[in-house]
Amino acid sequence: MNTIKPLDHIAVTKPYVPGGKLHGATGPIAMLASNENPFGPSPLAIAAIRKAAGEGLQIYPDPDYGALRAAIASAKGIPDASRVVTSAGSDEIIHILTQCYAGPGDEVLFTEHAFSMYEVSARAHGAAAIKAPETDMTAGVNAILGAVSPRTKILFLANPNNPTGTMLSLDALRGLQDALPPHVLFVVDGAYSEYLGPQYEADLRDLVDRRDTTVMMRTFSKIYGLAALRLGWAYMPKAIADTFQRIRGPFNVNTLAVEAGIASVGDDAFLQLSREHNKQWRDILTAELNALGLTTPPSHANFVVAEFGSAERAAAAHQHLKDNAILVRAIAGYGLPTKLRITVGSAEDNQRCLEALKVFSATR
Ligand SMILES: Cc1ncc(COP(=O)(O)O)c(C=O)c1O
Repeated sequence: MNTIKPLDHIAVTKPYVPGGKLHGATGPIAMLASNENPFGPSPLAIAAIRKAAGEGLQIYPDPDYGALRAAIASAKGIPDASRVVTSAGSDEIIHILTQCYAGPGDEVLFTEHAFSMYEVSARAHGAAAIKAPETDMTAGVNAILGAVSPRTKILFLANPNNPTGTMLSLDALRGLQDALPPHVLFVVDGAYSEYLGPQYEADLRDLVDRRDTTVMMRTFSKIYGLAALRLGWAYMPKAIADTFQRIRGPFNVNTLAVEAGIASVGDDAFLQLSREHNKQWRDILTAELNALGLTTPPSHANFVVAEFGSAERAAAAHQHLKDNAILVRAIAGYGLPTKLRITVGSAEDNQRCLEALKVFSATR
């Protein structure tokens, strides 16, 4: 009999539930479940990956990731690249920060419908996962501050949030930052910030500089279209960056991700194209879903959340879409069983999804 047992807090940690794949479908599948960019990566990233694949894959990456960090710093207007860290997807940022700053007896705070890796990571490191209530699927400064305790070590806040798409204003973020006690590390997750544009990206960057306890984390998985390569980064105070660098694996980012990141981080034309497509289709999806009676909260990201009135109807719509080779995301695990999250995809996939939902709504 196997007597090797995981630590108690590991044994009770529930794993992250991914968007999944659709098996057995014939014809093209519309993948609208994981907030990926329908354009794929920038052509500059693809050329860099091809080149890197043809030379030197037997060599370990540069453990300092100096060129990648410098490219990110330069593209994002960050003067000190030593305060930029890189990771295997931004999930790894969540894990490493939690590993460094929260453990048994501590609390990690986030909001009611927050991105679920915050909870997975808190539990996996033995910390208590604390949820501040949201109002209308939106985080609130007072509710967050009311949930802070002397044991709170980290506050994770995605802005915009996944899966709700809602966000706090910059003023609210600053007010929250000002009111947080200094023992709380404030991690702003900007996974979808490029969809708001360069000014918002700069605003989040500048938020980090207002305090020595604020971190901004980012990903190449969404607008940069590089989810498969697993590349994330963060901008943080120097002391936190130094701690992070001591703990991460020496070669945590692979060479193809490094080269793709360097080549595409400053491809502003690609970002603009992706942002405009997203805005155009997010507006269309919102209007058409609302016309079907499927209400949506205002989304600031690359997805919309549709309300189906009951958990049964949401499940039936999910299945109907699957039957039509369209995969969207059920979000019952986020406490939102009556809703489905639909990623803004290609024009064709968005149309297919809307057509299928029209058929569904006409009969059920
Ligand atoms: C808010 C948020 N943060 C972080 C992540 C993690 O992304 P990745 O690990 O691919 O960088 C996601 C992915 O869905 C997300 O929605």
